Amino acid sequence: EVPDGPNDGAVGDLSDLRRALDGCRRCPLWQDATQPVPGEGPQEAALMIVGEQPGDLEDLEGRPFVGPAGQLFDVIAGRVGLDRREAYVTNAVKHFKFTPRGKRRIHQAPNRGEVQHCRWWLDIERSRVKPKLILAMGATAVESLTGDRRGLMDRRGSIEVAQDGTPVLITLHPSYLLRLPQAERPAAEALYEADLRKATEMLA
Ligand code: URA
Repeated sequence: EVPDGPNDGAVGDLSDLRRALDGCRRCPLWQDATQPVPGEGPQEAALMIVGEQPGDLEDLEGRPFVGPAGQLFDVIAGRVGLDRREAYVTNAVKHFKFTPRGKRRIHQAPNRGEVQHCRWWLDIERSRVKPKLILAMGATAVESLTGDRRGLMDRRGSIEVAQDGTPVLITLHPSYLLRLPQAERPAAEALYEADLRKATEMLA
């Protein structure tokens, strides 16, 4: 059982979310992060987009997907007519997890416990937004929403269901595309673009 932080549970409207997250002590990641990064976008959005966790820039700005991964998302979303300002964009984990290396902060994947503890917040967001469709980008989001992170490549492009029955469209994470060798990137980008197109078609 996870003890509630001082402000947990007091989230009414999503406009309270940042304040409530500031008090989160459900796992230790708050200690080294600059701030929590709540989701962003219209509370009545039909599409909820879920990533892994804030990166370096997101941690500094307090907003999701403002760094390189977010920029790549915007480019590919633009090709299929998906406008992120119409979606509710968030992450499975709300604090940046990293190890310092010199002046740099190197991203560390959140572990299963951190993902589970932070699902408290993702569940709150999902229950307030009530999206018609969730786009889960990458293994961490898929794990949080479906309980199983395995076999992402075989599952991408397909629809599963979240714990509350909301359809979840599984896709790759844009950071994964950024890390691929140049020669492998076009093919993977095409898959990602096809998944984003499927999301827009499902909501049309
Ligand atoms: N990667 C994510 O998963 N989320 C962000 O907000 C930024 C990068």
